[in-house]
Amino acid sequence: MKSVYIHIPFCKTICSYCDFCKMFYNPKWVYDYLISLKNEITDRYMGEEMSTIYIGGGTPSCLSEKELEYLLKITQIFKKEKNCEFTVECNLNDITKEKLELLKTYGVNRLSIGIESFNEKKLILMGRNHTFESAKEKIALARSLGFTNINIDLIYGFYTETKKDLKEDIKKVLKLNPEHISTYSLILSEHTLLYVNKVKPIEDEVDREFYDEICHLLKKKKYQHYEVSNFAKKNYESRHNLNYWNNREYYGFGLGASGYIDLIRYTNTLNLTKYLNQEYDGKKELLTKEDQMDNEMMLGLRKTQGINLQEFKQKYQKELSECYPIAPLMKNKELKIKNGYLFINPDKLYVMNEILIKLI
Ligand SMILES: C[S@@+](CC[C@H](N)C(=O)[O-])C[C@H]1O[C@@H](n2cnc3c(N)ncnc32)[C@H](O)[C@@H]1O
Ligand code: SF4
Repeated sequence: MKSVYIHIPFCKTICSYCDFCKMFYNPKWVYDYLISLKNEITDRYMGEEMSTIYIGGGTPSCLSEKELEYLLKITQIFKKEKNCEFTVECNLNDITKEKLELLKTYGVNRLSIGIESFNEKKLILMGRNHTFESAKEKIALARSLGFTNINIDLIYGFYTETKKDLKEDIKKVLKLNPEHISTYSLILSEHTLLYVNKVKPIEDEVDREFYDEICHLLKKKKYQHYEVSNFAKKNYESRHNLNYWNNREYYGFGLGASGYIDLIRYTNTLNLTKYLNQEYDGKKELLTKEDQMDNEMMLGLRKTQGINLQEFKQKYQKELSECYPIAPLMKNKELKIKNGYLFINPDKLYVMNEILIKLI
């Protein structure tokens, strides 16, 4: 394993759309959680040098300074490669000089900030609150402390949203000049406030129009569209996420965290009581060769670069074209091959799922 994901399930507020494994921050549970996390890591980590570490959530940045330092000390268990990409997810409202300094001291070199929008109507619907001014201020603070790799997350596709609103959000994000931008179309999942309130999704055509607009605006500003929902300045692609999309193995530690080790895909328990009792196991699935190949396709074709055909052959001892019916999809220009890579025609990336259904 070269990558590790660590899940911190606490949040100061709960957003109306969120279906992640999270709960209200309660200092009563945090140290017990961190102690259990430390035990899980000590038990399972096999001592490899890590090339990427990603602390996500939930909201890791909502921990107090002392709790955050305890967490960061735990990450010192891992041996790290020289240029290890070390990301921590942050909420704007939690960012302080003191917390940023702590992150820096412990080797964090990438911040992923969930901004989602600057539109007041949208923010109210989301149950979030921040302003463009506060984003400017916090990002300037991070820059002044030496953070040179910042990602911003955006969500689009609320029923109130117009194309003008979307363009305004993108324009503001561009003003913040992040190295990386992730843009997600709103998913309405069960067990979220939006779903309970019967909020309707936007029409598919509008969603498509928004997606195209985002791609157009970001490409114009020299962001490379390297994955369906992800854009980066040159050399700032998320190495951690590329590890997932390249179907490589990784550790997942923490409540509800997923990992992939020795061909087993697992998700830890979602039950906090069990997790605190160090009963970590949740679901486990041993992948067959076919499962592995299917994952290679589903994950690899998310990347605009696509799948390296030679590597596929080396990994599975079969030509990709023997395993999947790519010929008809190439004929109708849904798939292309260039420089030894099979990829989805950029015009068709939006209908990736339909293409995958035809293939798998
Ligand atoms: C695990 S969340 C962590 C971010 C951090 N907790 C925050 O909200 O500031 C990672 C990202 O997933 C995206 N996301 C979460 N729920 C989503 C939904 N229902 N639809 C689309 N994107 C979503 C958001 O962009 C969010 O920033
Ligand atoms: S979106 Fe982020 S801050 Fe909001 S509830 Fe989910 S994990 Fe917490």
